[in-house]
Amino acid sequence: RTLSRCVTVDDVRTAAHRRWPAGVRGYVEGGADGEVSLRRNRQAFSDYALRPFTLRDVSRTDLTTTLLGSPASAPLALGPTGYTRMMHSAGERAVARAARTAGVPYTLSTMATTSIEDVARDVPGELWFQLYVWRDRQLMRELLARAQDSGYRVLMLTVDTPVTGLRVRDAHHGFTIPPQLSPRTVFDMARHPGWCLRMLSGPMITFANINGDRGQTPSGVMQFAASQFDDTVTWEDLAEIRQLWPGPLVVKGLLRTEDAVRAADAGVDAVVLSNHGGRQLDQTVAPLHALPEVVDALQGRAEVLVDSGVRRGTDIAIALALGASAVLIGRPYLYGLGAGGEQGVSAVIGMLCDELRRAMQLLGVSTVEELRREGPGLVRRVAR
Ligand code: FNR
Repeated sequence: RTLSRCVTVDDVRTAAHRRWPAGVRGYVEGGADGEVSLRRNRQAFSDYALRPFTLRDVSRTDLTTTLLGSPASAPLALGPTGYTRMMHSAGERAVARAARTAGVPYTLSTMATTSIEDVARDVPGELWFQLYVWRDRQLMRELLARAQDSGYRVLMLTVDTPVTGLRVRDAHHGFTIPPQLSPRTVFDMARHPGWCLRMLSGPMITFANINGDRGQTPSGVMQFAASQFDDTVTWEDLAEIRQLWPGPLVVKGLLRTEDAVRAADAGVDAVVLSNHGGRQLDQTVAPLHALPEVVDALQGRAEVLVDSGVRRGTDIAIALALGASAVLIGRPYLYGLGAGGEQGVSAVIGMLCDELRRAMQLLGVSTVEELRREGPGLVRRVAR
């Protein structure tokens, strides 16, 4: 199916799958261990039933909202993803451009394949930067300073990665950066010549933000990056980062109410309830199921965002009805990127916004504020 014939995010996913070698597909789609978290993320949305209001004038719906103090055209942000140029050589720039055109924030990952400076220079706009706490704290402070100097407005600290989850599909595929050449991977790549040609014609894929004397070869950089995830991270590190970052600070990867309260006490502006799209700890609660209690406990002291499993406009409507300020998406925009570069990302954002608008109209609400205010009456958890 070509992009122009895609109706849903699922269609775009199918289109991307056709273009990607198996290793890339596995890297994007995979979850950790037995992939229970991954499946539960999707199932969680079916655990809620909507009860629409009828006979209300819904001729003027408005998706605009405010996210961390800045206007956004929809309650949606693009979350951080690593190795993005692997999905399409247009990479992070294409994603950032599509986000800017749509009027929603884009979060650049620490593990990006385009540098902090290049994205900010080529696509200035509402940019957020995602930070991992590195073992080398000086390098972490450097990344933070570079993001600030380059004009990123929001810092998102990911805290669910003291170690990386076991991605079984990657291990099975021998998925590495750069791709390792074995008879199997060469055959796989040969069956996807479009992807291959684009990769070969572009610059070598590597972690663009970790360079210099920290690893001359891509695999050296990869090993360095893997060795840099810090399993000693604590709330004290969050306090230090709060001191260093003057702008809005978001903590991503929480699933416990007391952690969300503690993060708000530490002065963060928002939390993202997330299980990293099922890629870190397996068997977790779905972030959506953690949402109502967190919203209740925080009482507006910090914004509550949620991700993991959002694929449709009704998913966004449910999250907002349960009190979220917005959702993040990961894989959906990577499907768009894989299927059609910048255009594909734009198509996915457009589909989700159109679906959300239609869902709101069918629910009998006209604004994001109304959806959140009327939420308790609109959504009910149902037995499976
Ligand atoms: C991610 N995610 C992620 N998160 C993060 O904080 N830093 C990162 O570098 C990455 N990299 C990454 C790569 C890929 C391929 C995926 C799919 C995800 C997690 C991401 O930000 C987000 O939490 C999830 O993707 C949300 O779930 P869905 O929308 O993919 O179901």
